[in-house]
Amino acid sequence: MLWQQVLANTALLTVALSLSTSPVVHEKRSVSLPGKRRRVHSDAIIPVRIGLRQNNLHTGYDRLMEVSHPGSMTYGKHLSKEEVHSLFAPADETIKIVKNWLLGFNLIQKRDIIHYENKGWLAVDMPAKHAETLFGTEYYEHETNKGELRIGCDQYHLPRHISSHVDFVKPGVKLSAPLKKREIEKRGSPRSSPGGIPHLSNTNPPHYRGLEPPFGAGGLPLALQNCGVNITPTCIKALYGIPTARYHQPENSMGLFETYDAFSQEDVSLFLGKFAGNVPSHTAPQVISVDGGKAPVKPGNHRNGRESDIDLDLAISLIYPQSVMVYQVDDLPIASGKEQTIGFINTFLDSIDGSYCDYTAFGITGDSPGVDGSYPDTHQGGFNSSRECGTYELTRVLSISYGGPEIDLPKPYVERQCNEIMKLGLQGHTILSSSGDFGVAAFPGADSDKKGCLGGVSSSGPVYNPDYPSGCPYITSVGATRLYPNQTIKDPESAMQVDIAAWNRVTGDGPTGSPLRLFATGGGFSNYFPRPDYQAQDVANYLTKDLPFQSLPYYEITADTPRIGQNGGVYNRFGRGYPDVSANGAFLLAFLNLTERSFFGTSLASPIFGSVITLINEERSVIGKGPVGFINPALYKSKKFPWNTFEMVVLTRIDPSVLNDITNGSNPNCGSQGFQASKGWDPVTGLGTPNYPEMLTYFSNLP
Ligand SMILES: *[C@@H]1O[C@H](CO)[C@@H](O)[C@H](O)[C@H]1NC(C)=O
Ligand SMILES: *[C@@H]1O[C@H](CO)[C@@H](O)[C@H](O)[C@H]1NC(C)=O
Ligand SMILES: *[C@@H]1O[C@H](CO)[C@@H](O)[C@H](O)[C@H]1NC(C)=O
Ligand SMILES: *[C@@H]1O[C@H](CO)[C@@H](O)[C@H](O)[C@H]1NC(C)=O
Repeated sequence: MLWQQVLANTALLTVALSLSTSPVVHEKRSVSLPGKRRRVHSDAIIPVRIGLRQNNLHTGYDRLMEVSHPGSMTYGKHLSKEEVHSLFAPADETIKIVKNWLLGFNLIQKRDIIHYENKGWLAVDMPAKHAETLFGTEYYEHETNKGELRIGCDQYHLPRHISSHVDFVKPGVKLSAPLKKREIEKRGSPRSSPGGIPHLSNTNPPHYRGLEPPFGAGGLPLALQNCGVNITPTCIKALYGIPTARYHQPENSMGLFETYDAFSQEDVSLFLGKFAGNVPSHTAPQVISVDGGKAPVKPGNHRNGRESDIDLDLAISLIYPQSVMVYQVDDLPIASGKEQTIGFINTFLDSIDGSYCDYTAFGITGDSPGVDGSYPDTHQGGFNSSRECGTYELTRVLSISYGGPEIDLPKPYVERQCNEIMKLGLQGHTILSSSGDFGVAAFPGADSDKKGCLGGVSSSGPVYNPDYPSGCPYITSVGATRLYPNQTIKDPESAMQVDIAAWNRVTGDGPTGSPLRLFATGGGFSNYFPRPDYQAQDVANYLTKDLPFQSLPYYEITADTPRIGQNGGVYNRFGRGYPDVSANGAFLLAFLNLTERSFFGTSLASPIFGSVITLINEERSVIGKGPVGFINPALYKSKKFPWNTFEMVVLTRIDPSVLNDITNGSNPNCGSQGFQASKGWDPVTGLGTPNYPEMLTYFSNLP
């Protein structure tokens, strides 16, 4: 299977490279300059300066919006791996690529090219006719109102693979420096760039005593009468209007990230047999072993700890006959945490993008020693080969139900990683992550705090502790929702909040005791990442609401200076808000170690939302369209399109109700009430849960 895949990739690569040499307009003037005079003499020597692009770290956001914002002319026109790689190539590689291109013309000698290091330029003097060939243009003399003579053109071209490395060519749309006429006409020959934890919990399943259905369940089919306390794929499909899946398209296989925790096929088969009538119970995922990761395991194995089982139960039952792929990441010494490596998903990203292995950004090159696992791993049972770089293809949709406190990882580490997630979005991948399960805290015990909060002088601080990767603005962060016991699928859901320990497991009666272990959907504001434009308006709306959270003191991180908890504040009012969306994450009936139990957590929500996106990508495939890629800009109903550098179409459909707004519930912790769900976006349930039929129409109509 793997060999076949590698061969297929090679074929794609060839096509992408040959396309990338076709010239594209690099710069264009909309109106001709007034002083335009005659064409520059073809043999005149002109001083060409090529401004090299650095590694584009700061243009990534705009590039991603160009392919992800529904108002953009280039929506859905994702880039190839090679295009993304060269777009963000480090400066040295830029110099090499542009130089080689110039030398490829045989008109220019190596010694003619001068590299002005500190200016980031390549300088070559050459006859106008050669420059016109190189840049697909015509040069004209321009007389300024001071009577100076400058040369330039109205537009010029560069091959696509060069274009991404070049800021500008001068003379071009930018005119040359003033020249003396005789210089222009002179003839002659040319002279001389945290280890994540699963977001999940489980308990014994509650069942109503007898067969007493909740109030209002009367008219519903039997399979839907108990969804308030026993969620099944049938309940989930009914809640969100998800039809029975039909397609098996190789390009739309859905990916699940797993580490350490490993599924048991026996558990998954029991689930499929009992709860997914349309799926053969032996249905298994394809397992990709990244750096020695191993799955599946036997049901009684200590690594079968819920997460992988649940991810597979949900994905397979919602998208079968579509296939599911498990990326089982890191060998046991590293995945188990024994080697004290707190790094998170870097080795996985290396395995699906070879260029990331040694990519430099935010002052970090490649994996971080001591933070990320390193290979070959000489520990007993370690992966005895070099680190895998670009070995595997990433699926269009990837769900990650792991995460941890953002603050546990160094800021440049997560910035570099988040930048890579942006690059995957540029290529049309949708990366989803669950938002955490302890409200505005991380998890009990995190950061040496009883509740997993920050800023404690004792063992329980008041400051909220945001999650990573949810804080990365290029992730689609998924929160969790729930129904209450006497509700049915016809009722609106609330934010997932449940007192697991207080549930009466024997009688099935709702929480009775005092809260012992509160589980609540994760949400809040990043301390590392500022608010992205695509959500600015929705978040601003939330922050003006008259809700209890307004009484919380806050702080504002605007520059690079960390001021977490400053002035007694408990959250960063300027940060990236999460989650973006949500889906049901309570009372899922499933098997663990062959025993039926109830599962809770945002870990359930992410694979559900990922399945929905997979189904939408399938329908787009059928009508000849590409994947939806990074979905956040399309989901936030942003009316404002803040990039004026290229043409835009005005959104005709401003308010697609593609998500069911969740307006009830909250995510308390750290000794305060957290945030409240409300109309529109909120840092509890995001924009809401999928309304599949509306979502399908919306995304099918996009290019
Ligand atoms: C799985 O169940 C078996 C039988 O009940 C039990 O002996 C074993 O300890 C369980 N495994 C785990 C990891 O809990
Ligand atoms: C690891 O691989 C190397 C080279 O392939 C080999 O020489 C060595 O014996 C291996 N070590 C173990 C512990 O398997
Ligand atoms: C269930 O809902 C009904 C109608 O909304 C309400 O009258 C009843 O008190 C609820 N029962 C419980 C146990 O909450
Ligand atoms: C709203 O959420 C609260 C918990 O915050 C819950 O007790 C209540 O039943 C919910 N109401 C509805 C209508 O779902």
